[in-house]
Amino acid sequence: MGAVSSLNTQQITDIIAIDGPAGAGKSSVAREVARRLGYAFLDTGAMYRAATWWVLQCRVDLEDPKAIAAAVARLPLELKLTEDGLLVYVDGEDVTDAIRTPEVTAQIWRVDELKPVRERLVALQREFAARGPTVAEGRDMGTIVFPAAKCKLYLDASIEERARRRSQELAEHSQRVDLGELMANIRERDERSMTRAESPLRQAADAERIDTTGLGFDEVVTLVVEKGRAAFCRQ
Ligand code: DC
Repeated sequence: MGAVSSLNTQQITDIIAIDGPAGAGKSSVAREVARRLGYAFLDTGAMYRAATWWVLQCRVDLEDPKAIAAAVARLPLELKLTEDGLLVYVDGEDVTDAIRTPEVTAQIWRVDELKPVRERLVALQREFAARGPTVAEGRDMGTIVFPAAKCKLYLDASIEERARRRSQELAEHSQRVDLGELMANIRERDERSMTRAESPLRQAADAERIDTTGLGFDEVVTLVVEKGRAAFCRQ
């Protein structure tokens, strides 16, 4: 990793960087765009989730940022791209589903705002993307991790739309949650990710904003594929 982490970030350019708030559909869109273009897919939220899962497994004191950072420094994380999508392994265990439980989601904020944690995961993200063209999605792809990405997009949608999509997703898993409760939850997560000290969610100055409110999944994927192709052809 040494050689790659010392790579000048300006050299990592073959990236479609997708940022945006929770529930804007980044992850499913990025995965499908990567599949259509034959690029690698990097879900950086899954990495922060895996780090949080590991911290919980290690029974670290969640009030102690130093202990959290020390645990994440030892995180044995592996991402595997397969036909079924991106699988996440920690210490050889497939945690792809385990990192999406409400317990993990509730504690991520304690982990994802710590500087040493972000430094470690950002180094891994650059190492992953330096291997070839990548669709990378998260909160700080265009601003911090891949400042020289050829294509930077900021996917957004109204809070009502994001809550509706989330409620549909939950319904598919036979779970029902009040729409108002979902909207309050999304508002709280937006506020937290946009105001935190480390790598707050922001649209990069050179990113294009796409409002996906009222657009179907295929429409968004087609739009992103077109923008990615155009950006990669231009340079
Ligand atoms: O996209 P997601 O919901 O799976 O992300 C999980 C959490 O990780 C989310 O609360 C914000 C955080 N995150 C981050 O801080 N930086 C990223 N690049 C990606 C996600």
